[in-house]
Amino acid sequence: MNALDLETAILSDDGKALIILDQTLLPNRIEYLHLTKKEEIWEAINKLRVRGAPAIGVAAAYGLYVVARDFQTSDNASFIASLKEVASYLDTSRPTAVNLSWALKRMVRKAEENAEKNVDEIKDILRKEADGIRAEDITISRSIGEYGFSLLRPGSGILTHCNAGTLATAKYGTALAPVYIALEHGWKDLRVYCDETRPLLQGARLSAFEMQHAGVETYLQCDNMVSYTLSKGLVDIIFVGADRVARNGDFANKIGTSGVAIIAKHYGIPFYCCAPSSSIDMSLASGSLIPIEERNGDEVTTMWYRERMAPEGVKVVNPAFDVTDHSLVTGIITEKGIAYPPFDEAFTAMGIV
Ligand code: MRU
Repeated sequence: MNALDLETAILSDDGKALIILDQTLLPNRIEYLHLTKKEEIWEAINKLRVRGAPAIGVAAAYGLYVVARDFQTSDNASFIASLKEVASYLDTSRPTAVNLSWALKRMVRKAEENAEKNVDEIKDILRKEADGIRAEDITISRSIGEYGFSLLRPGSGILTHCNAGTLATAKYGTALAPVYIALEHGWKDLRVYCDETRPLLQGARLSAFEMQHAGVETYLQCDNMVSYTLSKGLVDIIFVGADRVARNGDFANKIGTSGVAIIAKHYGIPFYCCAPSSSIDMSLASGSLIPIEERNGDEVTTMWYRERMAPEGVKVVNPAFDVTDHSLVTGIITEKGIAYPPFDEAFTAMGIV
């Protein structure tokens, strides 16, 4: 089995359901869920059954379509009003990844642009738009992979945090896409170090799973081992994903990413953020404006243990993301090229608005 063959979020053949791979069950079980109701789709995104910024965007687009497909009205205005209501509801499932609201806004805008057509035609247009978002994500991820690949050398040691691989997108991933491209070129000697990524273990459960199945020499390490591996010269380059990039190049990614960047700066290891341009939020001047999701403390105290691993009643800090300062970032790899500082100027030159 190759992880590239796993579908993260697709539409069922009859168009009635959003099908997602339930990533909470990985690496032990590969199970798909068929979702039709807005509450199920909201829950799947909120509970990280589908996760990773671009995959969340694809799931939201198909999710909005399958819910809208069931609207019984033939009145355009009420169809669009209901569509907006569901879009706003799904948008509350996770706050940090900008791709969620980006995809939902794109779907609503498409319906509004075609408001003069009949409701069945608008539904058809929405289905095509969601297909387009998924297809574009594959092309974009591949292109990020090509640019990232240009930075690799045979035998490179790559460190990644969380999972920004094929499971986080429609295919290829962002941070792990360069590895898939290297494999296509027949490179067999890359080493990938996966931070386990407490508390939800996306690095252990997802990145290590993907890389191992791809036939890559894969090492799993606890998050607090980064400084060790970097100090030993085992890592040549760091690739991480992003949930939202601000105009100045600050970016939010999985909790712990900023610590990796600080350590990388100390050891002089190039640190790259890999993100589609849809993750770049030019409306935000800096990363301090990115909303950070705070999750339930049970994820830290209880979730992975046979018995509770912290005293009852202890207060828990559980932010899902942190912001890496742009001064720590060597470059931001997008599908349009690699942006180098000053990032706002580079983004503008790439036509990102
Ligand atoms: O909470 P998650 O698992 O959705 O967090 C995922 C990340 O932080 C990824 O690095 C990011 O979404 C980029 S995915 C290409």
